Amino acid sequence: MCGIVGYVGHRPALDVVIAGLRRLEYRGYDSAGVALALPGELWTEKRAGKLANLEAAVADSDPPPATTGIGHTRWATHGGPTDQNAHPHVSSDGAVAIIHNGIIENFAELREELAALGIHLRSETDTEVAAHLVGRELPRCDGDLAEAMRRVCRRLNGAFTLVAVDSARPDVVVGARRNSPLVVGVGEGEAFLASDVAAFIEFTRDAIELGQDQVVEVRRSGVTVTDFDGQPADVRPFTVDWDASAAEKGGYDLFMLKEIAEQPKAVADTLRGRIDRDGRLRLDDVRIPPSELREIDKIVVVACGTAYHAGMVAKYAIEHWTRVPVECELASEFRYRDPIVGPRTLVIAISQSGETMDTLMAMRYAREQGARVLAICNTVGATIPRESDAVLYTYAGPEIAVASTKAFLTQIVAAYLVGLYLAQVRGNKFGDEVRHILDDLAETPAKVDLVLDTVEGVREIARELADSPSVLFIGRHVGYPVALEGALKLKELAYMHAEGFAAGELKHGPIALIEDGMPVVVVVPSPEGRSVLHDKIVSNIQEVRARGARTIVVAEEGDEAVIPYADHIVWVPPCPTLLQPLVATVPLQVFACEMATAKGHDVDQPRNLAKSVTVE
Ligand code: F6R
Repeated sequence: MCGIVGYVGHRPALDVVIAGLRRLEYRGYDSAGVALALPGELWTEKRAGKLANLEAAVADSDPPPATTGIGHTRWATHGGPTDQNAHPHVSSDGAVAIIHNGIIENFAELREELAALGIHLRSETDTEVAAHLVGRELPRCDGDLAEAMRRVCRRLNGAFTLVAVDSARPDVVVGARRNSPLVVGVGEGEAFLASDVAAFIEFTRDAIELGQDQVVEVRRSGVTVTDFDGQPADVRPFTVDWDASAAEKGGYDLFMLKEIAEQPKAVADTLRGRIDRDGRLRLDDVRIPPSELREIDKIVVVACGTAYHAGMVAKYAIEHWTRVPVECELASEFRYRDPIVGPRTLVIAISQSGETMDTLMAMRYAREQGARVLAICNTVGATIPRESDAVLYTYAGPEIAVASTKAFLTQIVAAYLVGLYLAQVRGNKFGDEVRHILDDLAETPAKVDLVLDTVEGVREIARELADSPSVLFIGRHVGYPVALEGALKLKELAYMHAEGFAAGELKHGPIALIEDGMPVVVVVPSPEGRSVLHDKIVSNIQEVRARGARTIVVAEEGDEAVIPYADHIVWVPPCPTLLQPLVATVPLQVFACEMATAKGHDVDQPRNLAKSVTVE
């Protein structure tokens, strides 16, 4: 949540910062602001609403030609999305500007302390407290902004990234992080600070990962990193392996449309390089020794939202392949229920951003209990993979649309690779069995391509049903989490009431919801071998239809059994049941995207949401 950019160098800082904010707007978009630092002068502008409002305000003003600046795009926590609450916040003497991502938990007592000193706070935010504290500390440490920041950080509780500039020394930008993301970009005679690399990838691919509780000073001449006590800190440089165009719309009207279309490549990239010449899985990034993996007696997947649905899908496959019990738990619930985890538990933390606070806290808790943690993540250098014992990266590339699409498919693929690897290491499956499944997986990018070629029909159905007050999604087995995911996409994009149910549960209550004309989307498993699963869901379609539902059936090509009961059919290519989510989810993504478009909503930036949820 919240996008942060800082720049010092030789370019016009305002342009660099606004360009960075544009790329980070998906992190929060209820207000935005910038501050420019020049000798003896601090210039700020901030506006409620989307970044465009700030850009218009900047265009109407006369910004000074600074080469040092900071900028922020906000997702409100403390204080509503107003001009006043927008960042940056400025110290009472007007010299220091600060932007912040996270929550300062002890802000109320710090606020009281400042009030007692006669300092009037102009906003309702927790951030402004930090601005005043740094401003007051600065003269006590000879104007050393980094030292002032360290002293203040030692007093703060909670999660925060803070970035500050000072008009007395405009040659430096200082950042600090605890639990919230901050990366450094290093260019020729310039440096960047940002919530993620997308903000500066246009200028440099050389980046530095910061650790927990570190303070960084960036200057044209270089970067200095210390811990909160001022001791030099170890940092990890890395090179960003995608270029700026990966974070552009590339001719599509929406990032979401582009990301849906990128799914075949994302799946193929996630599979690539992980199978050796003998057809054996090689997961070099899983650094947990095979001897320990053989001892695992329980797997717990922790994740949120769409990533949680990927975990639910993975549970079916991993249990089936390894015979190890798998629990899949919402990360936000996990650590509050005294879960049973220990040294023989493998926790799989799934997160696209690698920064989701609920998931981070769940995995930290699991590690404290002695569990091994394996992260499935799309963002190199993010906190979750950095704090895990092992990581399997998904190669989806940057996902900019707030609603997750390509990350979901790659998370399923990565979790399947983990399951197969465990089965291989533990001897649950023979090499040729693993190879057979890997071959099936290798065919899925082409199948997703086929689905993408035929989604025009889905768009038509979505437009026809756009005025429905409510849509239900049902599925069985791995089709159940797919149904949940279809409903989530519709809620977040089309702002419609949508529910996903296990089809077998309908008769235990939810079927009472069905009334004449209500759309019910049914995810039908493969009819291969006339499976019981398939027959059962065909009965479920008949049951809802008998009660007036309008059925939209997602079924395998050639599945004639569903035809009599389908008001609309969406065909997907044949796939083994466990792999079907990789194809069946795609039409549901298109369905939600088109419905939201038909309703005139902002698909890439739905209301109230932010891409990276860095607060609990
Ligand atoms: C929904 C969506 C969210 C995320 C969730 C977890 O479309 O994007 O539900 O899946 O916030 O985010 P990550 O994967 O970054 O941990």
